[in-house]
Amino acid sequence: MTLQEQIDTNKLPQHLAIIMDGNGRWAKQKGLFRSMGHENGTKAVREIVEASAEINIPFLTLYAFSTENWNRPKLEVELLMKLLVSSLKKEIKTLQDNNIKLNAIGNLEALPKRAKMELKDVIDQTKENDRMTLTLALSYGSREEITKTIREISVKVKNNLISPENIDETVINNHLYTQNLPDVDLLIRTSGEQRISNFLLWQIAYAELYFTDTLWPDYTKNHLFEAILNYQNRERRFGKTSEQL
Ligand code: FPP
Repeated sequence: MTLQEQIDTNKLPQHLAIIMDGNGRWAKQKGLFRSMGHENGTKAVREIVEASAEINIPFLTLYAFSTENWNRPKLEVELLMKLLVSSLKKEIKTLQDNNIKLNAIGNLEALPKRAKMELKDVIDQTKENDRMTLTLALSYGSREEITKTIREISVKVKNNLISPENIDETVINNHLYTQNLPDVDLLIRTSGEQRISNFLLWQIAYAELYFTDTLWPDYTKNHLFEAILNYQNRERRFGKTSEQL
């Protein structure tokens, strides 16, 4: 049986989130410029998006650019933004062919104008697609998101639109960038680093974490299927005992 055939389609993660890491190291190992790592990273993005749609994962979220990534050398930031624009232009057909809706989370206002426009265009063109929602986290930082949420709710309290005792988890969820997404079930990080790096801190409260040494540009369908099989063998207790489940 292939890895894909071993996957239990009734136990798929509903929301899969991925920290795509290791583009730079991949390039360095091959004696190439970092930019080549990012370019090859986009190929892995396409393969993993297609594979996720193929096995019917409803929500896939990719950490493409963090608020901290703005501190990288200017040329690298420019290249990443260019890659974003060219990938969006190139992959609109893949999204349409696979019935995938594009979504974006983060401080999108901070993106260069071209990137903002292209993003808006693809989001608009794919808004009726309903097989899978692909969310790109761009200029995203979880602390920034939580700060923004607190600020927005505080303004509503100040204007008597909500009272403090009515602030619950649902109210908070409804103010996050991820308001239309379910909680994350499985979080994968490539390249051997075992940290969260300010990604979806609130949303991963009960997620299963999966770390792999594979560098992002080398990440293939079969690596993804291995991660999903590993997830399916875990017992998710959500604070309960095994017997209660
Ligand atoms: C991490 O590798 C990767 C990123 C910061 C950017 C991810 C971007 C892509 C995969 C390409 C563009 C994406 C889209 C959606 C078009 P790193 O540079 O941190 O690698 P390192 O830790 O080995 O230096």
